[in-house]
Amino acid sequence: MRRVDILRHLRPDDRDQLVGFIDELAAVQGARPLSDHLWLDLVGGGAAGFVAVTATELAGDTPRLIAMAQVSAANDGVVLEVVTRPDGDLTDARPDAAAVALDLADTAIDAFRRNGGGRLTWWVDDATDAVGELAAEHGLVLERSLHEMRRPLPHPDRSAVATRAFVPGVDDSAWLTINNRAFADHGEQGGWTAATLAQRLAEPWFDADGFRLYEADGQLLGFCWTKVHAELRPPLGEIYAIAVDPAAHGRGLGRELTLAGLDSLADRGVTHANLYVDAANTAAVRLYHRLGFAVHRTRSAYSGRLGAP
Ligand SMILES: CC(C)(COP(=O)(O)OP(=O)(O)OC[C@H]1O[C@@H](n2cnc3c(N)ncnc32)[C@H](O)[C@@H]1OP(=O)(O)O)[C@@H](O)C(=O)NCCC(=O)NCCS
Repeated sequence: MRRVDILRHLRPDDRDQLVGFIDELAAVQGARPLSDHLWLDLVGGGAAGFVAVTATELAGDTPRLIAMAQVSAANDGVVLEVVTRPDGDLTDARPDAAAVALDLADTAIDAFRRNGGGRLTWWVDDATDAVGELAAEHGLVLERSLHEMRRPLPHPDRSAVATRAFVPGVDDSAWLTINNRAFADHGEQGGWTAATLAQRLAEPWFDADGFRLYEADGQLLGFCWTKVHAELRPPLGEIYAIAVDPAAHGRGLGRELTLAGLDSLADRGVTHANLYVDAANTAAVRLYHRLGFAVHRTRSAYSGRLGAP
């Protein structure tokens, strides 16, 4: 027996139960199975637009939460994600985790429509055909696919170019120019302002030494910015942002700067590197494949503007 509940307002005990569920899965899986944005909304008790749909297993003495779908307001409409206990946790007689996830996503989308609708983006890891079909039934289209790629460290090759650490307050404007030029067509990584950069430089994880710059004749030509996730198991060293001035593309700098980032991570004792790249960014995907990165998972975003039923 399974019970499905729709929660539009979280009571403190609901909130604690859902936070505990995510924490429990994070401890088992080595990483939190919910994006930062949704996690912060959940911990904060759910801002306007919040909806959670939960599935609770009623067999046995104590009811047990087995899955949750969460809708949270974002910059552009709302974001939906679903978290389930892994398959092995459910006995054969019950629907598998994938079926539960689909069921909760369907219910959450309906609940969002009944709230008045609007723009919704559903993020799914390694989407199956069934996910694509459900998205299509709701009028959502695949808008973006993001690969997480990984490789072990150290890399057998070290970078052949000399780089130096970013100096906050000195390199900001030259860096913004190169970044915005290189990412002109790349959504959220382009169009950064001094304020966007200042915000990132103030993050607790920021380490100027892991933010490598490459200059030639006193001109900044590219960079590789790394971020260490010490809280993950294994700890991961992310290539957080990398770019080469478009005027210097195709000369091998992308490869050397990626290696400079990997060197910096390996020199800090990190044994696994990861990065996120748009599946449509063929130059970058090819570059990473050639450096021995493999796709670890693909996050897909299905989006659309949904009307009230
Ligand atoms: C991705 C980027 C850093 C590559 O820099 P680059 O200096 O031009 O790349 P390199 O000259 O070192 O090329 C390395 C490999 O990348 C691939 N590559 C580079 N440009 C490519 C292109 N336009 N099309 C296909 N593959 C390309 C090739 O596999 C190349 O290896 P090969 O020459 O042996 O085939 C650069 O295109 C860039 O700054 N893009 C904008 C920012 C960006 O997308 N960053 C990555 C975000 S995850």
